[in-house]
Parts: sequence; structure tokens; C-alpha cells
Amino acid sequence: MNYPLLLVTSENHIATIIINRPDKLNALNMDVIAQLGACMQQLESDADIRAIILTGSGEKAFVAGADISEFAHFNVEQGRTLAAKGQKTLFDVVENLRTPVIAAVNGFALGGGLELAMSCHIRVASDNARMGLPEVSLGVIPGYGGTQRLPLLIGRGRANELITTAQMLKAQPACDAGLVNYVVPQEDLLNKCKEIALKIAANSPTAVGYALQAVNAGFDSSQNGFNEEVELFGKAFGTADFKEGTTAFLEKRKPNFKGE
Ligand code: COA
Repeated sequence: MNYPLLLVTSENHIATIIINRPDKLNALNMDVIAQLGACMQQLESDADIRAIILTGSGEKAFVAGADISEFAHFNVEQGRTLAAKGQKTLFDVVENLRTPVIAAVNGFALGGGLELAMSCHIRVASDNARMGLPEVSLGVIPGYGGTQRLPLLIGRGRANELITTAQMLKAQPACDAGLVNYVVPQEDLLNKCKEIALKIAANSPTAVGYALQAVNAGFDSSQNGFNEEVELFGKAFGTADFKEGTTAFLEKRKPNFKGE
């Protein structure tokens, strides 16, 4: 499949996706959303890929938001469809991917950009990163899951303040609030993400996928997270990776996981 707005590479079981619209600060237009959603699903089905790093091109922005020029003239129904389609084709896809996605937040992550980073499983920010949900300053609200995922990450009070003031958080306060896991100098950002990805890649890809599924179930009101954990725990016992992992431990050697 061809993704003209993305740069996709892979090495050592780790895929890196760069959103490549630097002249528009990597703003998410409908083409980027469609390509990124399809690319994520393709990488998930690639047995060689065990972790994905997502970042933006250039040194200024991860993603500066949804592309404002695309929706400025939309009516009520078009606005509703934009949010619903975006959530379905990209944001929910990323969050529910079996392969962990690490957001390398290399600059502005605003609006849809922060919502995209929040859909990822892990976030690392460069020291020049700025994060916020400025939608109310445009007369709209976050529509790609921001009102739901931000309170889960930083708590309702802090989320309410960030959303209603439309202010940006610098990298270190974002880290202190739990929005990102680490802050590193910009030149170290991809290496830090690769370091995390390599640790993930050493584990059973099947178990990693089940674990993410169980975590997500706890945040899904239609599921019981504890019951889902029991089911997935049991299911893991039927996998080749479980046999390999436990056998390798007893034989005092490193496991050689193959995934499903
Ligand atoms: N949608 C569409 N285009 C965008 C964009 C967005 N969300 N964010 C930036 N761009 C474009 C600008 O229009 C500009 O294009 P141009 O050169 O053709 O005029 C280009 O990217 C560079 O942006 P610019 O505003 O000149 O850079 P800056 O350094 O002065 O400011 C930001 C950077 C991020 C503060 C500013 O671009 C901004 O506020 N962007 C919108 C953020 C936002 O509200 N996002 C939420 C959308 S729901």
C-alpha cells in the first residue's frame, strides 16, 4: 500500500512512521487520517513488527492539529461526521492496536495532534514540545477523543483547565502531570523511543497485545476489565509464546518469541 503523506521505515522489529506535511506543521487532513489508519493496521498485521514509533517531520511540530482549512466551512452534520469518521478510522484504531505505538512528540502537539498522541500507548516528548487542546479558541471542542482521554491521563480538574483555557503545556509540566512519560533533548527523542521499543520487542508480541487489550477493556464501559483480564490470561496459556517463555525460563536461556 502507498502512503504519500507518510514516511515509513522499519528496523529490528520496530517501525517508524513520520507524518510528512512539514509546511503545514503536519496538520491532520483527511488524507493523512486515512493513510495513517491504514498504515497502522498494515503494520499490526506484519508479524515482523513488534512496536511502532509515530512522529512528525521537521523539528517544530508533531502535529499542529486537525487541518483547520478543511473544516472551516462545515455545517453541523459535516462536523459530526468529521469527528465520528476520524475517531473510527484512526484514533480508536491506534488505541486498540495490538502492537504498541509510542508517540515521539517532537514539537507542537495541539488539538488533533495531542489527541493522536493520547491515542498512542506511550508518549515521549522533546524538550521543545508544547501540548494543548485549543479547540474552544476556535469555537469548537476536541472531537477526536480529547475530552475523554485527557482526563484519564492527567485527571479531570487539570483536563478541564487545559481544555477551557486553551492553554499549552510545556514538556516538563506535561510530564509532571502524567501526559507524557519522559522529556528528553530533541536530538535524543527517537533514541529514547527506540530504547523503549526494543524492550517491548524482546517480549512475547502475543502477550503484549493481550495485555494492551486487557488494559483498554478497563476503560471501556461496555466491558468488565477484570473479566477480560481473566479471559486473556487463560488464552495466553494456549499460545506458543507461553510455552516458549516458560520453557526458556526453566532452561535458563533467553526466549525466542515468534508471536501468533
Ligand atoms: N490546520 C491547518 N494549517 C495549519 C495548522 C492547522 N491546524 N497549524 C498550522 N498550519 C499551517 C499554517 O496555516 C501555516 O501555513 P501557511 O504557511 O501556508 O500559512 C503553516 O502551517 C505554518 O504555521 P504558522 O502558524 O505560520 O507557524 P507559527 O510558528 O507561527 O505557529 C502554531 C505555530 C502551532 C502556534 C500555529 O500554527 C497554530 O496555532 N496552529 C493551529 C493550532 C490549532 O489551533 N490546532 C487545533 C486545530 S482543531
